[in-house]
Amino acid sequence: MLEDEYDKTRRRLPRHLRPAPAPERPFAFTIRPAQDRDIADIREIYNYYVTNSVVTFDEKPWKMVQWREKFAHLAKLGMPFLVAESPTGQILGYALVQPWKPKSAYRYTVEDSIYLGQAAAGKGLGSALLKALLEACQEVGIREVVAAISDKGADASIRLHEKFGFTEVGRMGRVGFKFNRWLGVVYLQKSIPKRRKRPVAG
Ligand SMILES: CC(C)(COP(=O)(O)OP(=O)(O)OC[C@H]1O[C@@H](n2cnc3c(N)ncnc32)[C@H](O)[C@@H]1OP(=O)(O)O)[C@@H](O)C(=O)NCCC(=O)NCCS
Repeated sequence: MLEDEYDKTRRRLPRHLRPAPAPERPFAFTIRPAQDRDIADIREIYNYYVTNSVVTFDEKPWKMVQWREKFAHLAKLGMPFLVAESPTGQILGYALVQPWKPKSAYRYTVEDSIYLGQAAAGKGLGSALLKALLEACQEVGIREVVAAISDKGADASIRLHEKFGFTEVGRMGRVGFKFNRWLGVVYLQKSIPKRRKRPVAG
């Protein structure tokens, strides 16, 4: 045995004396309304998908000022905008709705948008955020939610929406062109029942 090999063996503690590996932390989060201070994290989460995927048809990363304007606009309209935060204060993902179209007769209809940081995907957070978002929509009287989803690379999003009762209402082919390929859009829609008024006590 060479001298350095001997040293390595000698320094290794017997199994019963080795410290136990740190237990894996459970995936924990809280969901709350987005605030101004979350905008930088939200931007970073979104821009990852702008730069690396076709799940959004944006091609240029969003600037802080664009997100600030969007945040202020949605807040003014009273549109639900939620974030999921880890116990250490990291923003893991967000979910928002925005008006489906600006014309006034569309006022009860919104389009949703959910994005998670890569490390937070596939662990049930999307489901938790969409559930909370739909509840928040009901609270403010929204009646129809539309999801406009890329027909490429967005299987998780389609599955997530179907799981919450969204049904496909239409498709458009070849309406987007990103990374040198044509993309279509799948539209899913869900109706939200009117919020039940609390029974008057007594
Ligand atoms: C779409 C997204 C929000 C889903 O959130 P998530 O936390 O990964 O989803 P969940 O773990 O809650 O899973 C929801 C359902 O989708 C399924 N699913 C998750 N990842 C999937 C994948 N890659 N392909 C197919 N189905 C998938 C799950 O199995 C689950 O269905 P089940 O309960 O019947 O098993 C998340 O993956 C994400 O941020 N993706 C990138 C951004 C994006 O596509 N946003 C939507 C733009 S329209």
